Amino acid sequence: MRKIRTGFIGVGGIAQAHLRALQDQDAIEVVAVADISAERAEQTAQRWGIADWYTDYQELLARDDIESVNVCTYNNAHRQPTIDALRAGKNVLVEKPMAGTLEDAIAMTRAAHESDKLLMVGMLHRFKADILMAKAIVDAGRLGDIYYAETVTSRRKGNPGGTFINKETAGIGATADIGVYCLFDAMYLMGWPKPVTVSGIANNTLSKLSEPLLYTPWARWEPDKVTVEDFGVAWVRFENGAVLVFKTCWLMHMDTLGQTFFLGTKGGLKLEPLTYFHQQDGLLIDSVVQELPTPKPGEGFRTENLAFADAVREGKPSPVPADEMLLTNVIIQGLIDSAAQGGREIDVHVPSFD
Ligand SMILES: NC(=O)c1ccc[n+]([C@@H]2O[C@H](COP(=O)([O-])OP(=O)(O)OC[C@H]3O[C@@H](n4cnc5c(N)ncnc54)[C@H](O)[C@@H]3O)[C@@H](O)[C@H]2O)c1
Repeated sequence: MRKIRTGFIGVGGIAQAHLRALQDQDAIEVVAVADISAERAEQTAQRWGIADWYTDYQELLARDDIESVNVCTYNNAHRQPTIDALRAGKNVLVEKPMAGTLEDAIAMTRAAHESDKLLMVGMLHRFKADILMAKAIVDAGRLGDIYYAETVTSRRKGNPGGTFINKETAGIGATADIGVYCLFDAMYLMGWPKPVTVSGIANNTLSKLSEPLLYTPWARWEPDKVTVEDFGVAWVRFENGAVLVFKTCWLMHMDTLGQTFFLGTKGGLKLEPLTYFHQQDGLLIDSVVQELPTPKPGEGFRTENLAFADAVREGKPSPVPADEMLLTNVIIQGLIDSAAQGGREIDVHVPSFD
């Protein structure tokens, strides 16, 4: 098996998780890292036994012996390294969310179309056992046409702080950071319908409280630094007539914002626990899927990177294509823009790259 020689751009928190997951495997060899922090780049190279490190990622991209890059910078720094890498002839695995703004996501998707390289967005849920099982149920036609869904990701006390709460580095807050997971779940299971309108609300009231009423275990409480939303809800209408309600937050005085579920003309489905609802022979049947495998720590990142390397090596399509993930940015931007207009329903547009 040909090893894919890879470089990492941005080696903060999540890059370390990728690099840990890439130990003891034969598919990928990480040969260089780049970070604007020399200290972080050097320490990362030493920690994982990587030969070379740079503070300017262009030096990494100039190397002919590097075939692919992982872009693990903060959201608003996904765009330029991704586009530069594609133009330099590298395949790219860029972290989720695809970008901190819709404009960036469009530019990245266009660059992927203009290159003959592969762009994949890091979306661990694409490899999650319950989501794959749910997708198989939907693809077998058991739900019929999905006409309504709700999708939810929430934390009760989980404002991540750091670069995540700053609009300049993150672009968007909770709705993109963790909301993108449940948005992916819904869009993947619904078959990536085209969104046409969004109405949304968003705020950061709880993160702005001067007292850390909602203790976040892994981040400092810095109300003055929060410039993104920590809560967002959207009502999304699709071209095919279906509707999706999307809810997410980093903080709340509640145990849950609800459940992710799908209503179809022939059956229904909910996640956690994965349950399939239908009627047969005059009976109402609820089938709970049992014994789905639980991944070991780090296994998701390993699976994701190996899927990327396999697609590069074998010339397969991107396992998480830019054209699909772009729709998550269209919806999230719609939520933010609608919220800024008092929650008014607004039209959203999916660009064409033909
Ligand atoms: N898949 C997951 O489970 C998961 C989890 C956490 C974060 N993430 C995503 O990963 C990304 C990074 O998150 P993080 O927690 O590692 O952030 P972080 O702030 O810890 O690290 C970002 C790194 O990028 C570097 N950087 C910024 N601009 C750069 C540039 N132009 N060139 C080189 N380096 C640059 C910074 O110096 C920093 O070291 C975010 O998009 C985040 O949403 C994904």
